[in-house]
Amino acid sequence: MQKVDITKMNENVFTKIGKQWMLIGATKGEKSNAMTASWGGLGIMWGKEVAYIFIRDSRYTKELVDGSDKISVSFMPEDKKNVLAYMGKASGRYEDKITKSNLHMIEGYDIPVFEESELTLICKKLYAQDMKAECFIDEAQIEKWYGDNDYHTMYVVEILEALEK
Ligand SMILES: Cc1cc2nc3c(=O)[nH]c(=O)nc-3n(C[C@H](O)[C@H](O)[C@H](O)COP(=O)(O)O)c2cc1C
Repeated sequence: MQKVDITKMNENVFTKIGKQWMLIGATKGEKSNAMTASWGGLGIMWGKEVAYIFIRDSRYTKELVDGSDKISVSFMPEDKKNVLAYMGKASGRYEDKITKSNLHMIEGYDIPVFEESELTLICKKLYAQDMKAECFIDEAQIEKWYGDNDYHTMYVVEILEALEK
């Protein structure tokens, strides 16, 4: 893994997040877990390079994210798409997804940094806000996405380090 300057990334962020997908990883105490995410963004906030992450209330990963200061955002190679599909369906609440998917966490980090990841962002939480029905300007989104009341929390996280394989 080598450190790279994330501002020099010249890939299309819509493809990277929306089509390649990412893994949101977190560790709380002895527990590490990761889940697939394809909604979010990369940008600038408060003069810092940040990622915007959206995690629904029901996700086990949310418990770990809320219980730690840092998270990782990992982009996997195309041949790990099946792993991402699994990580986006099973829950770490019931099984050890990282072991089952044969991903390897690199030692020495306090959050999941995977050997298999092409690009890993080590991030520090700056801001978290629960989405609420009354805040939607386009109310059609409530019916479309939140019929079960399982709202997202938005996290703005500072990208402290970008590591490339
Ligand atoms: C392609 C894809 C994208 C997803 N994007 C998100 C997302 O952005 N936010 C979210 O909360 N869940 C998202 N999910 C669902 C979670 O990954 C899924 O519920 C997962 O099982 C949660 O795992 P956990 O309980 O171990 O945290 C996505 C799933 C897939 C397959």
